[in-house]
Amino acid sequence: MEVVILPDERQIAEVGADGIHALLARKPAAVLGLATGSSPLGLYEELVRRHAAGQVTFAAAQAFTLDEYVGLPADHPAAYRNVIRRELTDRVDIADGAVHGPDGMAEDLAAAGADYERRIAEAGGVDLQILGIGTDGHLAFNEPGSSLASRTRLKTLTDQTRADNARFFDGDESAVPRHCLTQGLGTILEARHLVLIATGRGKAEAVHQMVEGAISAMWPATILQLHPHVTVLLDPAAASRLQLAEYYRTTWAHKPSWQGI
Ligand code: GLP
Repeated sequence: MEVVILPDERQIAEVGADGIHALLARKPAAVLGLATGSSPLGLYEELVRRHAAGQVTFAAAQAFTLDEYVGLPADHPAAYRNVIRRELTDRVDIADGAVHGPDGMAEDLAAAGADYERRIAEAGGVDLQILGIGTDGHLAFNEPGSSLASRTRLKTLTDQTRADNARFFDGDESAVPRHCLTQGLGTILEARHLVLIATGRGKAEAVHQMVEGAISAMWPATILQLHPHVTVLLDPAAASRLQLAEYYRTTWAHKPSWQGI
């Protein structure tokens, strides 16, 4: 796991965008895994900026979102499929039909989960998956206690996650759906490169557990320790509980210039 501690969100956005930029340059038809939430917003802004400047094209790319609320109508502004359109995909040249998400309105949710797995596999798997992390260490919507081998399925959100996400529902926690369809931890682990972004002191304990704690379903993000290519982009506040912070800083400072993330 490569842990990169950067001074601010601006530099996190640049390093993350460099990774996606390099991927699209060598593989224009790359499959991107997109996360919702506030953590990747700076990265998405930077990608939009580079696209507007003619530096990067997504025309041949495909994208898969991590998760979706159950029961939100297709036109609901908080549905992740619409969130990702507003934040990124409608602002670059990726085809709308090339952006996929789990169907949270499906009558048969188990079948919708299996169908999503099939669609990801048919696309050849995810090349680069962007991730955030919940304050309780959840990845996508894999709450504590999730199977470390899980696939796309129905999950019940914790009260904490519903409270955290009420800001996307005009502050009304009761409007936040109780269920979601989410890629499983086993699904996420199959992406070829994972890029996780975390900022702010509220994430410091979850980041410490993820990087330096024992692998456990209590902290679902610890499963990333089993992946061969993970890049963790942090601001100093999110890195503030890391025991080996100085080592991570030294490693980044001496990274060979030819080696991207
Ligand atoms: C949500 C999403 C996750 C996201 C997490 C953190 O519950 N399902 O994919 O990583 O919250 O969100 P934020 O980046 O806003 O802190």
